[in-house]
Amino acid sequence: MKKILVIQPIHKEGIKLLQKNSDYEFEIVENIETEFLKKKIKNCDGISIRTANLGSEIIDVADNLKIISRHGVGYDNIDLKASKKKGLTLAITATANAVAVAEHVMFMMLHISKRGNMYDDTVKSGKFNNRNKLPKTIELWNKNILIVGFGRIGQALIKRCLGFEMNVFVYDPFVSKDIIKKHGGIKVENVIDASKKMDAMSLHVPLNEKTKNMIDYKFLKALKKNCIIINASRGGVVNEVDLDQALNEDLIFGAGLDVFETEPPNENNLLLKNKKVFLSPHTAAFTEECMIRMGKETIQNIFDFFNNDLDNSKIIKL
Ligand SMILES: NC(=O)c1ccc[n+]([C@@H]2O[C@H](COP(=O)([O-])OP(=O)(O)OC[C@H]3O[C@@H](n4cnc5c(N)ncnc54)[C@H](O)[C@@H]3O)[C@@H](O)[C@H]2O)c1
Repeated sequence: MKKILVIQPIHKEGIKLLQKNSDYEFEIVENIETEFLKKKIKNCDGISIRTANLGSEIIDVADNLKIISRHGVGYDNIDLKASKKKGLTLAITATANAVAVAEHVMFMMLHISKRGNMYDDTVKSGKFNNRNKLPKTIELWNKNILIVGFGRIGQALIKRCLGFEMNVFVYDPFVSKDIIKKHGGIKVENVIDASKKMDAMSLHVPLNEKTKNMIDYKFLKALKKNCIIINASRGGVVNEVDLDQALNEDLIFGAGLDVFETEPPNENNLLLKNKKVFLSPHTAAFTEECMIRMGKETIQNIFDFFNNDLDNSKIIKL
């Protein structure tokens, strides 16, 4: 019987799959401290893991481990070098997240453009009659949006933006002009030049050396004053200190962040007090439907792996 360690609880629909399969025994752990995980992982054949850090010191002692199944699509919490050295397979829940994150981006973009907090505060604080004196809101209709990174989430987002009749531009050096055109977008070659004409930008790239601090003060200063920036990719792609400064200097209309350089953000993070940024606690994929999909897919990926049936699109090349 194969042993599966579920690191951090997942939706009960995923657990049900394990309960029904007599080829597997499993344990769910909430403690994510290194020494604890080192003990627990020792005899496991497979793990499902959410956001806990899986460093080389843990992977190195996992002598039976064959598969790491990420609950989600990002994998910057996993030591890839150590995983490769051990010959492990790393799988992601590739088909689960995109729609939920794309909806979250639309929610943030609409919330910011319609000044959701301000309207709500106005009514609840008894200031309804101020409605003519409030700062104006803006429409998404006919506006230019740049989607940076045209993978699963970028491709789910374009459909929603086109539904709002936005003009969609895409920056992704690894996706062809034809594919972008087929999805209804226009490929741009130079992200800095293109961004100067945008009313909105949404980031959907992995965090790496190229994308870290991609959006810094210089970049923000060149944008149109009505531009809205959304980051639901990874913290660090947007430089938070620079974003705070740009918002305070009215260089852009507003920003929405679901992810942070440090999670949770430090209490002295200036953005926590900035009214022009709308924040969510890395919950873009936390809809009930998406949690069910991720919970089931992370377990199914383990089953498929041991049945030699795991789809290639779910495997990360190490
Ligand atoms: N907020 C959340 O809860 C949440 C949920 C899921 C995914 N994510 C994050 O969203 C991001 C995108 O996820 P995905 O599933 O669409 O990934 P994906 O791998 O399907 O797509 C990423 C795209 O980025 C492109 N890319 C890589 N480097 C680039 C660069 N320098 N400039 C422009 N494009 C570049 C790639 O070509 C690829 O098309 C990841 O960082 C992931 O971790 C966040």
